[in-house]
Amino acid sequence: MRGMMWICILIMFLSEAWSLDSGTNENTSLKPSTTSPPKMFLVRRKAVFNLGSDAYLNCSDKTWSETMFVIWNIKVNNKSCKIAFSNDGQSEDTCNDDKSLRNTSSGQSYLHIPNFSTDDVGVYKCESAFKGGNENYDIDVTLTVSPNISAWLELKDNNMVAVCRAERGNPPANISWSYTGNLDSVKTQNDCDGFVTVESYMELPESVKPENLSCIVKHMSWNQEKTVIPELKKASSSISTGLWIRIVVVIVVPLGIFLFFLIKKPIS
Ligand SMILES: *[C@@H]1O[C@H](CO)[C@@H](O)[C@H](O)[C@H]1NC(C)=O
Ligand SMILES: *[C@@H]1O[C@H](CO)[C@@H](O)[C@H](O)[C@H]1NC(C)=O
Ligand SMILES: *[C@@H]1O[C@H](CO)[C@@H](O)[C@H](O)[C@H]1NC(C)=O
Repeated sequence: MRGMMWICILIMFLSEAWSLDSGTNENTSLKPSTTSPPKMFLVRRKAVFNLGSDAYLNCSDKTWSETMFVIWNIKVNNKSCKIAFSNDGQSEDTCNDDKSLRNTSSGQSYLHIPNFSTDDVGVYKCESAFKGGNENYDIDVTLTVSPNISAWLELKDNNMVAVCRAERGNPPANISWSYTGNLDSVKTQNDCDGFVTVESYMELPESVKPENLSCIVKHMSWNQEKTVIPELKKASSSISTGLWIRIVVVIVVPLGIFLFFLIKKPIS
């Protein structure tokens, strides 16, 4: 737990350092020097895409007739690069991959990332300048990750409690129950690597049969919701695994050592 905390702090520190860095060494060649934009509003945003999907990111709703330039500073897992375009025809692309600037049919600029993969996960900083202002975004772009789902029943203070768990998804899953009791609670745990575990607890009144209860999980990466029926947790399977490990340690290992010496002796 403590180790995790330090990793989180380290990650935060590194990403801070990076954002300070790139703020100062920005290439100014594409900026018109005649106008100084009035104010910088930096907005952090999130964007999540499915694996293999076509991803679109926009920096502004302004059309090219009002826009002077758009600059994307991209930092993904294994590289940093830049894609920029200005309305006087200058353009720059140091990414040299499938990412490109495109126009919508109504003339707005957007960044297109085809076949979204883990290599495209990162921070996309964009700056768009237009007559009378500019827009700046830091967009955290992540991959949709489907959660692992499980559900079980447990006894708590003589009450039957149903638990449904959607583990390490991104974005968080949505959990609901077939029975809408008023005694449920939801716990959400955010891991610092961006994954979210959601747990929903439902206290079952005696009138509801556990086999009639199902947990319904919805997630962005699935086109259909998933249903799990919570079952009474069996403690025996974990005991038997532990028992097997003990049998191995207590019997098999000493036997192996004994046999090893038994075989070795006549040779030496
Ligand atoms: C987008 O529109 C601008 C302005 O009309 C044009 O200069 C630019 O070449 C277009 N970009 C693409 C990728 O079509
Ligand atoms: C998308 O990327 C994956 C992995 O890089 C590749 O195997 C697949 O062929 C690509 N699909 C398309 C349509 O380019
Ligand atoms: C349990 O399920 C059965 C069959 O689907 C249904 O007839 C019954 O009404 C349900 N009972 C409760 C308490 O929801």
